[in-house]
Amino acid sequence: MNLVEAIRTRRMVRSFSGDPVDPVTLERIISLARHAPTAGNTQGWAVVVMSGPEQTARFWDATTTPAWRASSRRWPGLSKAPAVIAVFCRPGAYLDRYDAPDKAGSGLGTSAGEEAWPVPYWFVDAGFAVMAMLLGAADAGLGTCFLGNFRGEEELRSALGVPIGWRYSGAVLLGKPAGSDPPSSSLDRQRLPDSAVIHPGTWKRTEMT
Ligand SMILES: Cc1cc2nc3c(=O)[nH]c(=O)nc-3n(C[C@H](O)[C@H](O)[C@H](O)COP(=O)(O)O)c2cc1C
Repeated sequence: MNLVEAIRTRRMVRSFSGDPVDPVTLERIISLARHAPTAGNTQGWAVVVMSGPEQTARFWDATTTPAWRASSRRWPGLSKAPAVIAVFCRPGAYLDRYDAPDKAGSGLGTSAGEEAWPVPYWFVDAGFAVMAMLLGAADAGLGTCFLGNFRGEEELRSALGVPIGWRYSGAVLLGKPAGSDPPSSSLDRQRLPDSAVIHPGTWKRTEMT
C-alpha cells in the first residue's frame, strides 16, 4: 500500500478477530513511530505494548468499568484486539530540553513550568507517533483504533508500573479486523468541505466556521 492510499483508506476499527499479531510486525510498526518528529528532538514519549488477553486485560481493567463492559455493544469486538499499545509522554522531558542553551530563549524551561506552554508539545509529539503507528499498521494490512484518555489514567499507570511524571495520552488497539464493526456515531458527522478547513491567504468565513 502506498502512503497516499494508507492515509485515505485508514479508518478506526472497533472489532478485531482476536488472531495474534506477528511480534516482528508489531515491533516494525512501533519502530516506525520512532521516526516521527518530536519538538526539540526531545523524544519524550514511550509505549507499553500489551500482547495477548492476559496483558491486554490490564488495560481494559484500568480504563473501563464492569458496567460499561456489560452494556457496550462494542466491548465484544474491542476486547479481542490482540495488541494494545498504551502511549505515554513526559512533560518534564520537554521542560528539561527547553532549559538547554539552544532552547532557553523560549522561556519554556523548568522554572516556567508546564502551564507556560501555549501548546503542550508532549501530547503533540505523542499524536505524531500514534499517526505513524496507524499508517504503519494500515501498510501491514492491520486495523487500528486510537482510544483517547478519558478515564483510568492513574489506574493504568499503576497497573503497568509507569513512573511518576509520565502522562497517559491514549492507546492504539491493533489487530486483524473482524469485519463486524458497529458503525461509530462519530461518522454521522459529515466530512467538512475543504472550504471550511483550508483558507487560502486569510480566514474565509463559511457557514461552518
Ligand atoms: C484524540 C482522539 C481520541 C479518540 N478517542 C476515541 C475513543 O475513545 N473511542 C473511539 O471509539 N474512537 C476514538 N477516536 C476515533 C475517532 O472517533 C475517529 O478517528 C473519527 O470518528 C474519524 O473516524 P476515522 O478515523 O475512522 O476516519 C479518537 C480519535 C482521536 C484523534
